[in-house]
Amino acid sequence: METAEIRRRWLRFFESKGHTVVPSAPLLYDDPNLLFVNAGMVPFKPYFLGQETPPFRRATSVQKCVRTQDIEEVGKTSRHGTFFQMNGNFSFGDYFKPDAIRFAWELLTTSQGRGGYGLDPEKLWVTVYEDDDEAAELWRDLTGIDAGRIVRRGLADNYWSMGVPGPGGPCSEIYVDRGPEYGPDGGPAVDEDRFMEIWNLVFMQYELSHVRSKVDFDIAGELPKKNIDTGMGLERIASILQGVDNMYEIDEVYPVLERAADMAGKRYGAGGGQTAQTSHPDDVRLRVVADHVRSSLMLIGDGVTPGNEGRGYVLRRMLRRAVRAMRLLGVDEPCLPELLPVSMERMSQSYPELARDFDRISTIAYAEEEAFRRTLASGTTILDTAVARAKAQGGRILTGSDAFSLHDTYGFPIDLTLEMASEQGLSVDEAGFRELMAAQRDRAKADAKAKKQGHGDTHAYRALFDAVGGPVSFTGYTDVEGDGRVAGLIAGGVPADRAREGDDVEIVLDRTPFYAEGGGQLADHGLMRFGGALVQVTDVQKPITGLIVHKGRVVSGELGVGDVAHSSIDVERRRSVSRSHTATHVLHQSLRDALSSTATQAGSENAPGRLRFDFSWSKPVPASVFGEIEEHINQVLLDDLPVGAEVMNKKQALESGALAMFGEKYGDEVRVVSIGDWSKELCGGTHAQRAGQLGVVKLLGESSVGSGVRRVEALVGMDAYSHLARESVLVSRLTDVLKGRPEELPERIEGILARLKEAEREIAAVRQKEVLAGAGALASGARDVGGVSVVASDVGDGVAADDLRRLVTDVRARLGEERGSVVALASATNGRPAVVVATNAAARSAGIKAGALVKAAASALGGGGGGKDDLAQGGGTNADALPEAISAIERAVGLAVAAPA
Ligand code: ALA
Repeated sequence: METAEIRRRWLRFFESKGHTVVPSAPLLYDDPNLLFVNAGMVPFKPYFLGQETPPFRRATSVQKCVRTQDIEEVGKTSRHGTFFQMNGNFSFGDYFKPDAIRFAWELLTTSQGRGGYGLDPEKLWVTVYEDDDEAAELWRDLTGIDAGRIVRRGLADNYWSMGVPGPGGPCSEIYVDRGPEYGPDGGPAVDEDRFMEIWNLVFMQYELSHVRSKVDFDIAGELPKKNIDTGMGLERIASILQGVDNMYEIDEVYPVLERAADMAGKRYGAGGGQTAQTSHPDDVRLRVVADHVRSSLMLIGDGVTPGNEGRGYVLRRMLRRAVRAMRLLGVDEPCLPELLPVSMERMSQSYPELARDFDRISTIAYAEEEAFRRTLASGTTILDTAVARAKAQGGRILTGSDAFSLHDTYGFPIDLTLEMASEQGLSVDEAGFRELMAAQRDRAKADAKAKKQGHGDTHAYRALFDAVGGPVSFTGYTDVEGDGRVAGLIAGGVPADRAREGDDVEIVLDRTPFYAEGGGQLADHGLMRFGGALVQVTDVQKPITGLIVHKGRVVSGELGVGDVAHSSIDVERRRSVSRSHTATHVLHQSLRDALSSTATQAGSENAPGRLRFDFSWSKPVPASVFGEIEEHINQVLLDDLPVGAEVMNKKQALESGALAMFGEKYGDEVRVVSIGDWSKELCGGTHAQRAGQLGVVKLLGESSVGSGVRRVEALVGMDAYSHLARESVLVSRLTDVLKGRPEELPERIEGILARLKEAEREIAAVRQKEVLAGAGALASGARDVGGVSVVASDVGDGVAADDLRRLVTDVRARLGEERGSVVALASATNGRPAVVVATNAAARSAGIKAGALVKAAASALGGGGGGKDDLAQGGGTNADALPEAISAIERAVGLAVAAPA
């Protein structure tokens, strides 16, 4: 059964049991504790935690998930995949254990002909938490499963919580026996390869107060409304139903693996064993490729772009690991253009948006591969140099610090260094490398800790959130001032009841007009007045969803929790930032109009009077197109389109054509900001009321900021005007100086530059003539050294090396061929001495070599030099030593003629 069909059956089955089918949320999720969505229940957390009222009592989904903590295990076992899909059914205070168990059993064991998965009931095992008699009895009574296949296990295996205070409870897991060829009998407690877990039913029945670890927490009491959260690994059930060994061999993954094997000319599985200990390295590499290509496709699809931090880094690492694995398989040409389309082909059966968006996705992925190939190329040169150095020193070991700098500076993964060094017969000081890595990690940790302490930690924020008793209400879309009550305080970095004059504070109000930094828009600044205190607010952040934290300093007086604050934001700043934000939307739409709809936003910053906008695009935007875009933007401003915001549900938003990239919660109400009918974007920011209020937008330029991403910077309103005004003053100064009309300036300047160049050429020619004119005098001043005519002289400062060479050969010609001659002339330019020496044939046959003479001179000048026997050139750093250098040459000639040739 195809994976897409398993998915369809899942949703259809639970829909028929009264569940609302909820589409998968994007992998990027607005949760400070998570890099990516990692379980089906994540989007439902606010319902489980009681922060929001669920719009349904039963829901089902197939959720996209990414887990990367086991990335090194990928390919080595059958169970680890970085991207996977979790089928889930959820009850919010509705049904509990009996129905959860009944539904699971029915779907698993109903025959395929009748819409189920058709698993043999005799092959199923279940585990329950050791004290959960109720669950054990329900399994026995409702399913008739043999009591011998109901296994009790402890907290570590059969208890589930969210890792934070809130609902949790025992769970019950369903396993499939894959048969004796996979391992010993005895059930899941004995062997988890043979007995593969496919489905986890979590019975949320308690309120947990303190969660210290998975097995160490306090139970505050029974939940008044009990919940169900289940998760089935779609890839795992697919591997069972498709009769394949592991998740890399299912229909959604295997075609990529097969294509990669083709490219490498390898046969997958040729190496035999499939477990960590026995898999052939090539098979592991092929699985890594298949997994990572798919994960990258899904991540870019959901709006992640490769970068050096956080989510972007995870993506970059996966793309690079895939490319590297292909190289280790012997494929040197670009591989993503071959593999990514294969993955898209498979995955778009369930996620058709991947096909629609493939231009953008593939552009980003291919650009990253190109960038990595360049890294590899430069890293390889560095590696070769390091290898050569190690060999020259007679060593057979590449130092840890070489390996570290390859990794740190060139992004060269250690295993590639190991592999490539060993090809050249060298081993690597891995211990040294790891020590340096650990030291770097410690530094990074210390940094992160320092940062964290500066901002309070997540626990303190959770407590503040609880103190508000729900999300803080933001009144700033309509109001610029208003009252709110202090729900919590952090003073000097620690939770506090009161704060005094001079304290750095973080203040949480139940309602506030202050906009917290987010969606690229910078925070509001402003003042909070209390009965007896004044606080200056200089930053506003949302450290966790729904919580708005004002940061600032108590300017005077004292305040405490429970006090009422009258907030007033800095209206000028807000207006200016809002104009920039609207300008960003205008720019975004104009770029898409001019380039293509794949030019989508990859990041932005809206600051007072200026904006920065990053978008996915892999080549420079031609200057003419850029100019047209700027003109178009300003035309839109003249049209003075109204800017409006409307809250609607996501479906309506998508139908209205609003641009939605990432990060929004499914099903939530979303806010759509529109500029006339022309631009519509999901956006939580503040904006101008009409496009005309922006005045003027000046684009400053466009540049690359990494693979497949370009950046535009722009000025808005008065800042744009001031910029243009300054440039205009500059132009009038130039017209004054150059005595021409503004439009004549470029031509005038070009003319002046051309004349300047010509004049320089003429000066050079005159000087050369002058220099050569001295040749006769130099030749007639030749001295006789043991029968050889020698001219050795400093010709004065500023004669260029070329001229010096010409002069030297001219003097040599004048001295004729009858007898031996040596001409050595020197000059210093900008304090750097140069010397050129020429010998004629007779001198050379007497054993006098220009190269040797230059060396003698250069060593006096503190430098080096060389050349042939007839003409050589050298130099140094010490111009004061020129007389010494010249005598050195004369001495050397004397020695040469004295010694028999
Ligand atoms: N939330 C549960 C899990 O992730 C179902 O296993």
